[in-house]
Amino acid sequence: MSIHLLNRNTFGEVANTGNLMPIEEAHELLNAWVPNERLRLHMKQVAAVMKAWAIEKENADELTARKWELAGLLHDADWEKHPNDHCRVIIEELERRNIDPEVLHCIASHGPRYFGVEPNNTMDKMIYAFDELSGFIHAAALIRPTRYEGMDVKSVLKKLKNPSFAAQVNRDDVTDAIARINIPLEEIIQFIIDHQKDVQ
Ligand SMILES: [Fe+2]
Repeated sequence: MSIHLLNRNTFGEVANTGNLMPIEEAHELLNAWVPNERLRLHMKQVAAVMKAWAIEKENADELTARKWELAGLLHDADWEKHPNDHCRVIIEELERRNIDPEVLHCIASHGPRYFGVEPNNTMDKMIYAFDELSGFIHAAALIRPTRYEGMDVKSVLKKLKNPSFAAQVNRDDVTDAIARINIPLEEIIQFIIDHQKDVQ
């Protein structure tokens, strides 16, 4: 991924806190903006993992879980059509739609090295941790005859150490993201396997 600094640190309006969009509307946006089915699947997988983490690990209420899900679902929505303005375009669109500033900040901070926005809260840090690993694990599943069935953490760790496998996944980003949270890499990998395997 190349560098697309956003050059700002505040997103949206505080007055829009709690303002989300129905998940159906988010899927409509995704279908309109992202013709690439594989990329849409990536976002649906990150959304499922984010929502599950919020509920299972953070004791999130319904609104909070929906925030995590929405950020996951839309974080790469502008990647395909606006590769040179990735992140800025979707954020501006969501600002026009008066979406919750925490969702916007979460999307803006999903790649601190690329967008220049530091993850602040747990939601920000978890999307950063999940994003690359989710794609990596899916790539690993695709080369297995049984896909996710019987996939274990050890084999994922082994592939992470092999720089030629899914070389586009930046290992430094994975290391950096994990260093920012107090959760072992193994636990994150297992959680992703468990929660994205049935996403379609
Ligand atoms: Fe992503």
